[in-house]
Amino acid sequence: MGVAQLPLLAANWKMNPIDGGAALDLVKGILPVASEHSDRVEVALFPPFPWLLGVAEMLDQTGIELGAQDCFWEMSGAYTGEVSPAMLKGWCQWVLVGHSERRAYLGETDEMVARKAAAALSSDLSVIMCVGELDEHYVAGKGDEVVSAQVRSGLSSCSADDSSRLVIAYEPIWAIGTGKSADPEHAYKTMRLIRRVVGETIGAGAARKVRVLYGGSVNSGNVESYVELPLCDGCLVGGASLKAEEFSEIVKVTAAVYAHG
Ligand code: PGA
Repeated sequence: MGVAQLPLLAANWKMNPIDGGAALDLVKGILPVASEHSDRVEVALFPPFPWLLGVAEMLDQTGIELGAQDCFWEMSGAYTGEVSPAMLKGWCQWVLVGHSERRAYLGETDEMVARKAAAALSSDLSVIMCVGELDEHYVAGKGDEVVSAQVRSGLSSCSADDSSRLVIAYEPIWAIGTGKSADPEHAYKTMRLIRRVVGETIGAGAARKVRVLYGGSVNSGNVESYVELPLCDGCLVGGASLKAEEFSEIVKVTAAVYAHG
């Protein structure tokens, strides 16, 4: 449990749902509980690009925030298929950068992630930067090294001024979508490491303000074991955020942990 700001629950819908009506139904299902607890838990939804506008209209005045799952590092120009932070700024508060699926399937490098984060921050968006090690790194005891390098490179164009709008999500790749969530002790140690590296990269004061999340097979049954950890400021939720009831339960459990904290 971190202290700087409200805990954050980020719902990464990935490339789901394929139907716009279903996306709006999902928002409808999540809204009552998320709004009820918005004074205790910050909730941000990350739908696919085509649904952003419709979801933005539904979220207006609800206290629930909206984010995109990616952005480009230039603001406009000849970059076919890309979407810029300047374009997102009108209706999004957040953008996700460096998700492991983009690193794996689209060849995103640490340098690209750093440029995206800096561009989004310069457009006044808040950023969740994802980092995490592969199973083979974890097994070989190289997880810390990999994660530290990702954080250091990813923040290379950021400054202490960005810290209140910057979130790092630790997502061990072996835990994403596998049902094999990380042991909270392992998550805690890595989140502590991340905060230390943030401090070394953009300053100790900044490290206290940056929020650090856990992600990877989070559900209503295990979320408490993460959000109650010292230094954990919330979770990035994939699969479980596509079920309104399950995600609402995750919000309730998180709110309860912070109510007692
Ligand atoms: P998961 O995904 O909760 O389905 O494991 C998390 C993520 O990839 O952000």
